[in-house]
Amino acid sequence: MKKSFTLSMLLMGSLFAADYSSVIENPSASEIIKKDLLAPAKVYTMPTGCITNDPKAIARGSFIFHNLNGEKVKGKTPEGLKKKNADGTYKQYGNCVACHNIEGAKGAGNIGPDLTGYKDMFMATGVRDNQFVYQKIADPRIDNADTHMTVNLTTKLFNEKEICDIASYIVSPK
Ligand code: HEC
Repeated sequence: MKKSFTLSMLLMGSLFAADYSSVIENPSASEIIKKDLLAPAKVYTMPTGCITNDPKAIARGSFIFHNLNGEKVKGKTPEGLKKKNADGTYKQYGNCVACHNIEGAKGAGNIGPDLTGYKDMFMATGVRDNQFVYQKIADPRIDNADTHMTVNLTTKLFNEKEICDIASYIVSPK
């Protein structure tokens, strides 16, 4: 009896002494921070035929501007825009109205400038051009290193064509 008790105590001891380092996660804070940091600001050249009067492209751009994500959307999305990604997760949209007012916006925020009348005020006057609008949406840090605006192409949140759709919407007559 005494002998088996000593034996079991010895066994327990060896169990506790086991090396669990391979199964216990030991995250490195600096690695996590590195992963979370945005990629450096990048200059983009607007692809040819990017800004268009195509009503379907403008409809997609408008939809991305005014909506948060595929899960929140009731009803249909415009042609060429899905609610879900290929991996089944809901697609993230721009939710630009969180910060910008624009024609038809509901409950728009005012962290960013009001984009109402953009075509007449900024494009027709030559203050801005298509390339500026494209770059601003793709990676606003090129124009303003301390921007509070979301980075959309460098983060791969949207692809080139989607940036073109959004830019086409902003500069379109409304
Ligand atoms: C978190 C707030 C925020 C969000 C979200 C946001 N923006 Fe902005 N945006 C700003 C701010 C602030 C500025 C002005 C300061 C600057 O340039 O960073 C700006 C500037 C702009 C400009 C330049 C206006 C001009 O001609 O001076 C455009 C165009 C623009 N945003 C479009 C968008 C679009 C499109 C989206 C959605 C994909 C978006 N923004 C989302 C904050 C935001």
